[in-house]
Amino acid sequence: MMPPLRVAWVVCTILLCPSSGLEAAAQSESVEARSSTPVAGGAAAVRGCGEGEWRCADGARCVPRAWRCDGRPHCADGSDELDCTWNTTCREGQFRCATSGLCIAASWRCDGDADCGPRDNSDEDPYMCEKDFKCRGNWARCATPVGGQFSCVPIVQFCDGERHCADGSDEWDICDNFTVSSCAPLRCELGCRPTHDGLACYCKPGYEQREGKCADTDECLLEESCAQRCANTAGSYSCSCGPGFVLDQDGFSCLALNDPVGEPMSLIVATQSDVRRVWPDAAPPSRHAAPPSRHAAVTALDVRALHYNYDNRSICFVHHIVSRSSLLCVDADDFSKRTSICFVHHIVSRSSLLCVDADDFSKRTYLPDPDFFPDLDTVNAVAVDWVSGSWYVSDGGREALYVCARSLAPCRLLLDAALSKLHGLALDPSPPAG
Ligand SMILES: *[C@@H]1O[C@H](CO)[C@@H](O)[C@H](O)[C@H]1NC(C)=O
Ligand SMILES: *[C@@H]1O[C@H](CO)[C@@H](O)[C@H](O)[C@H]1NC(C)=O
Ligand SMILES: *[C@@H]1O[C@H](CO)[C@@H](O)[C@H](O)[C@H]1NC(C)=O
Repeated sequence: MMPPLRVAWVVCTILLCPSSGLEAAAQSESVEARSSTPVAGGAAAVRGCGEGEWRCADGARCVPRAWRCDGRPHCADGSDELDCTWNTTCREGQFRCATSGLCIAASWRCDGDADCGPRDNSDEDPYMCEKDFKCRGNWARCATPVGGQFSCVPIVQFCDGERHCADGSDEWDICDNFTVSSCAPLRCELGCRPTHDGLACYCKPGYEQREGKCADTDECLLEESCAQRCANTAGSYSCSCGPGFVLDQDGFSCLALNDPVGEPMSLIVATQSDVRRVWPDAAPPSRHAAPPSRHAAVTALDVRALHYNYDNRSICFVHHIVSRSSLLCVDADDFSKRTSICFVHHIVSRSSLLCVDADDFSKRTYLPDPDFFPDLDTVNAVAVDWVSGSWYVSDGGREALYVCARSLAPCRLLLDAALSKLHGLALDPSPPAG
């Protein structure tokens, strides 16, 4: 279990977030001076930089030479990442960033995250990543991406004398020589317009050009049409929602119905030190006025595996029983004495499954330990199948997923492969497709 670690002295600005412990340690020396003066400018210039250091262009700081051109700015003015000269070749299977010169895994290209460092988005350049981007049926794309994405406008709006694309490209020079007679060779049902991919036929809204005719567009094939259920109709479509939901006014989203109706929303929150129920919008149910805190919270350390049972309004979680807590301090070599790290060290004697009544946390039941398990200390997720009552238990230490009968015995191994990073478990009782 990770003990809570308090590092009070790390001052973090957008440009100067230490991203590794090592950097944090090295920066800690200068943090105090920095926190009292604005980072970007104003600060008195440093007199000289030591050997192995590099002086920021604004003269305010010295940074280790190894930080120069490492792809992350450490100077407040970012000068340690300017004018870097780079190896022009990356290894096979790598992509070379245009500005930072970093070599990154080719698979990181166009993955939706910018990986080339600050001021370099070349791995997510929309012209490269979306070169095959096409607009559906009756729409055509604007020439330039906005916010990293190309947008679409209806074909019929191209060259109609009005700007519809953010960049106005629907009225660019593609329109110059266009006349209605230009469409003749296309034999369109209604007509055509010039687009950035050439002349294209348009149809009524809800229809698209297919095999020389205007045919109904099946909007339900597009994931973005409806949040839940979709019904295609000639020239249109409509959305609906599953049981327990109601369609929102936007005709797209589904809102969950309160169950039971009229009960104010509450959240069940596991903090580092307890599990509690909170009512974000309203006072707790007026039935008991404000319930004493013991009715809405239970002390529990670092709960990760927690499950809410709808059926009986109970919360079950792995409860670590702490036999002793003590304060441990360490003096790391790089740190002056006053900045040594202290943390609370807990000794867990036992871990068990505890269920509490969500309406009265003082009603508690410890469940029997699942057979199969020497202990529950490393369990990182639990979920109960509300149809059969079976328990699904993920054990982060053994990297395995178990299923147990309602009474937590017998259990059997379901999966035992690379589950160490599992952080949550959700059950879907519908039979697998196919
Ligand atoms: C450029 O990359 C090659 C191959 O990775 C390496 O051997 C060489 O030292 C690099 N040159 C510089 C200046 O970093
Ligand atoms: C329009 O026609 C003129 C004359 O034929 C030609 O010079 C010009 O390049 C054309 N413009 C476009 C955008 O095709
Ligand atoms: C509520 O349901 C859970 C899961 O089935 C069960 O383990 C627990 O014992 C139940 N609690 C009560 C008070 O019935």
